[in-house]
Amino acid sequence: MSGDARLPPDGLDAIEAEAWALLEAGGGSFRAPFHAGTLGTIGDDGPNLRTVILRGADGASRRIWCHTDIRSPKIAELAADSRIAWTLYDEAARLQFRAWGRAIVHHDDDIARARWQATVLNSRRIYHAVAPPSSISPIATGGLPPELDDERWTAEFSERGAANFVALETRITRLEALYLHHAGHRRALFRYGDDGACLTADWLIP
Ligand SMILES: Cc1cc2nc3c(=O)[nH]c(=O)nc-3n(C[C@H](O)[C@H](O)[C@H](O)COP(=O)(O)O)c2cc1C
Repeated sequence: MSGDARLPPDGLDAIEAEAWALLEAGGGSFRAPFHAGTLGTIGDDGPNLRTVILRGADGASRRIWCHTDIRSPKIAELAADSRIAWTLYDEAARLQFRAWGRAIVHHDDDIARARWQATVLNSRRIYHAVAPPSSISPIATGGLPPELDDERWTAEFSERGAANFVALETRITRLEALYLHHAGHRRALFRYGDDGACLTADWLIP
C-alpha cells in the first residue's frame, strides 16, 4: 500500500466532516481530488455507469451536483427511476466515496439558470450539439453545428445552449467512505433523512 495513503481522521463524526469537505473541494475546483466521479443510473438493460464532473457539493443539505444535457439518455432513465449512485476515488489518498440518493433534474428553473450563468464559455459548447447526445451518427463528429466556429462563439451566442442544460442534483441518502491504509483499512457509512439529518453513522468491515 502506498505511503501517501490518507489516514482516516479519528472517529465517525470527523470522517463524515472530512468526506463532505473533500466533496465540496472537488466540486469547486478542477485541480482538487474528487472532481470527477462515476454516476450510476438504472436503465432498461440494467445498470448504467458513466464518468461525470462533480460540479458542486453541499454538506449542510447533503446534496451533490453534476451538469448534463436534457436530451441525454440518463435523463430519461432518471425520469423512470430517480435512484442514483455515485463513486468517486482519489488514487493518491487511496480514498473512495460511494453515495446513493435521489436525483432531481433542474431544467429551465431558477437553479438551472443560476448554474448556467456560472458555467464558463468553453463548457457551454457541448450543449449546442444538434443531435441528442448518445444518438447514432452516420459520420465521425463532435456533434456541434458547423456554423459554431470561433467567430460566432460569443457569450451571447452561447446562451442558445441554455435550453439543453440540466443541473442534476443528487439528494444523498447514504454516503460511504473507504480509506485504504497499510495500518488497517477503515470504512464508514452514514445515512441521511429526507431533511438531510444524519440518521445513523456506522463502521463497516472494509
Ligand atoms: C472526464 C469525463 C467527464 C465527463 N463529464 C460529463 C459530465 O459532467 N456530464 C455528462 O453528462 N457527461 C460527461 N461525460 C460524458 C459521459 O461519461 C457520457 O459519455 C455521456 O454523458 C453520455 O452518457 P448517457 O448516454 O448515459 O447519457 C464525461 C466524460 C468524461 C470522460
